[in-house]
Amino acid sequence: MEKVILAFSSGLDTSVCIKLLQEKYNMEVITACVDVGQPEKEVKRSSQVAHKIGVSKHYTIDAKDEFATDYIFKAIKANATYEGYPLSTALARPLIAMKIVELAKKEGALAISHGCTGKGNDQFRFESTIRSTSSCQIIAPIRDLNLTRSEEIEYAKSHCIPLPIFELYSIDENIWGRSIEGDILEDPMVEMPEEAFNWTRSSNNAPDEAQILEIKFEEGIPIALNNKKLDPVDIIKECNQIGGLHGIGRIDIIEDRIIGLKSRENYETPGAVLIITAHKALEQIVLTREEIKFAENTSQTYSELIYNGLWHEPLREDLDCLIDNMQKRVTGIVRVKLHKGNLRILGRKSPFSLYQEQAVSFEDKETDQREIVGMIKNYGIQAACYQKVCKKD
Ligand code: ARG
Repeated sequence: MEKVILAFSSGLDTSVCIKLLQEKYNMEVITACVDVGQPEKEVKRSSQVAHKIGVSKHYTIDAKDEFATDYIFKAIKANATYEGYPLSTALARPLIAMKIVELAKKEGALAISHGCTGKGNDQFRFESTIRSTSSCQIIAPIRDLNLTRSEEIEYAKSHCIPLPIFELYSIDENIWGRSIEGDILEDPMVEMPEEAFNWTRSSNNAPDEAQILEIKFEEGIPIALNNKKLDPVDIIKECNQIGGLHGIGRIDIIEDRIIGLKSRENYETPGAVLIITAHKALEQIVLTREEIKFAENTSQTYSELIYNGLWHEPLREDLDCLIDNMQKRVTGIVRVKLHKGNLRILGRKSPFSLYQEQAVSFEDKETDQREIVGMIKNYGIQAACYQKVCKKD
């Protein structure tokens, strides 16, 4: 029998996939759960469920450090967000796929399988990575057989597949954020119920007392909170915790999926909002006007590449070179205040600051104001010509 490696989460789709791969595709199934910071109980459950359904082997792969250092930190340097979404789910997909590819090579598997349906973004993200980095066949049983959710439940019941603990919503979680969609949230006018939030407090329940936090960046990446040095995963977790406590990072958007469908998604990304907001504030003081303008365009393109599953597109690496070079000066400290859902920048400083306090001051006498007259005389000369030539009246 040929081997197939299935990216496994113990959810309904991937649980059904195990049996389908065995029954309908006649393959030996090896499952792998790639840990990018989903709830620990989900990682543990994956191993139990996989064995219960009857796989020949199950792997748990801890990829949290790699996710933080090689993916999230790149996204921070690029201020990556897509239509207001900090890309938490999207960013983890290429890493998960690469871990599965590595395993497929090690196991000499013929194929790689995933549980995506034919409507979402993740099929694009998984498959483009798999095709760019291996020659394995790809099997997507749910999509292949055009299964609906109720058909899957039916199949699971008749094959003694343990159903996951009933979740009303479809939730995806990793250290960079939590995505919540489905059920009543499919009506874009229905408010996300308070009990569906898990990482963030409502502003009502957030502490009355504000919290002041100093985030230290080095070459564009966060390295310390209130002067305490932290490892990549820890600093992200701590920012999620602090931001969440103060009700930061609740996002409710209608986003444009790759295939063009509009979908409604809720996100809880307290750490991402906190870090990216502070990062932008630091950029304002160290980058030139030209760099900031260019970085905004770069950020947009970079974010689209991530969202669209094109992590392996060479342009992403080209942009990383540009971004890394620009970020060399994004070193310094940003002071923020968190209070009942509000995040305010209180201050920023950097050894590479371009801010000239003395020159911009109203009290400055050294820069002779009269010297500007020569420059201002021809400023906007084309607008003046246009007004004269075209608006004669
Ligand atoms: N819309 C987000 C994306 O495409 C998240 C998808 C997963 N969301 C979920 N609730 N399962 O990246």
